[in-house]
Amino acid sequence: MDHDDSFKLDTRLTRVGRDSPAYQGAVNTPVVRTSTVLYPDVASYEASDTDDYKVLRYGLHGTPTTFALEEAVAQLEGGHAAVALPSGLAAIVAAISAFVKSGDHLLVADTAYGPTRTFCERRLRSYGVDIEYYDPLIAGAIAALIRPNTAAVFCETPGSLTFEMQDIPAIAAAAHEKNIPVLADNTWGTPYFFKSFQHGVDVSIHAGTKYIAGHSDTLVGLIVTTQRYWLTVRKTVADYGYCVSPDDCYLALRGLRTIGVRMRQQQHSALKIARWLQARPEVLRVLYPALDDDPGHALWRRDFSGAAALFGVILKPATWTSVGAMIDALKLFGIGASWGGYESLAIRYDPTRLRTATKWNPGGPVIRLHIGLEDADDLIADLERGLAKLVITG
Ligand SMILES: Cc1ncc(COP(=O)(O)O)c(C=O)c1O
Repeated sequence: MDHDDSFKLDTRLTRVGRDSPAYQGAVNTPVVRTSTVLYPDVASYEASDTDDYKVLRYGLHGTPTTFALEEAVAQLEGGHAAVALPSGLAAIVAAISAFVKSGDHLLVADTAYGPTRTFCERRLRSYGVDIEYYDPLIAGAIAALIRPNTAAVFCETPGSLTFEMQDIPAIAAAAHEKNIPVLADNTWGTPYFFKSFQHGVDVSIHAGTKYIAGHSDTLVGLIVTTQRYWLTVRKTVADYGYCVSPDDCYLALRGLRTIGVRMRQQQHSALKIARWLQARPEVLRVLYPALDDDPGHALWRRDFSGAAALFGVILKPATWTSVGAMIDALKLFGIGASWGGYESLAIRYDPTRLRTATKWNPGGPVIRLHIGLEDADDLIADLERGLAKLVITG
């Protein structure tokens, strides 16, 4: 299928990564399961072993289903190429590993996803990598932290759990001045709402598990890169033997087709619910860059074309037990890990132990809400029922 970039994003979403003539007219690229790929002769088998990971040669390095997903995500985000991995965390691990070696210095946003920090602490430190967490609001002042052995800058905007926006173009300008690549976890922004490469990111990482797959039924990760860093990243993924099943790629690609309508609808409900929460007497602050009065709103408005339906709520001081009782009382919000599916979720959390470069003093307990495709008024009624269980202490 032709990939005319002049089409609008929603049109391109319906077309990227499809090649129906190759599959006798089937609309969707089918699940192609294979480990071994057969060749007609020795010469063509040996010729298949190239550095270009975009040809079918062995199932480990992708099948036509994998390639379709990779191509679709790379095109939507505006990168050179993408590689699929078995989870978002695997994508983070592989992307960072592609750039750091023993003796290097790595700058990581203090608000990075918890398991990203765990990987840095439990694995990278033991390999001799010096990790420094930086204030996510640092912007261009990151230049002062860059050392001769700094190998990469890792960003995540907005921050996991606390939702601070990062000035990615300013960080990228400082890093590029020293020829250092910028890696960013773009799971919240998605390739649909944040065009990483237009903002200076060199390596964009996605937990496709969230909005790309969108139905809480599969785990998949993706790394999208510029041309310059493509083989650095792709060879690392091959060296670690990472491989994702074509069934999971099929589900992610199928989910991707509807990411636009899902995210627009979920954002609409999330804003309505976030504004309703702001007016509630039990609430101190809502952490959501899409809200006009959020400290990150100007950056979000400048750089993003929309928001994920995931935000935090700082409650007035209340007993931790009653925060649990509040969440337990919700009928429509599920209690569980992850987000980005079609269903609403709620958890309570304390990010204090995950912050080392900055202080996290919210002033009250915090919950995280993911807003799904349920009717927003039903969700509001559900939250009202939950809030009645809170025991406010201050
Ligand atoms: C921001 C962010 N990045 C990465 C991940 C990891 O994704 P996965 O669960 O697919 O490993 C998550 C999961 O919650 C996440 O929230």
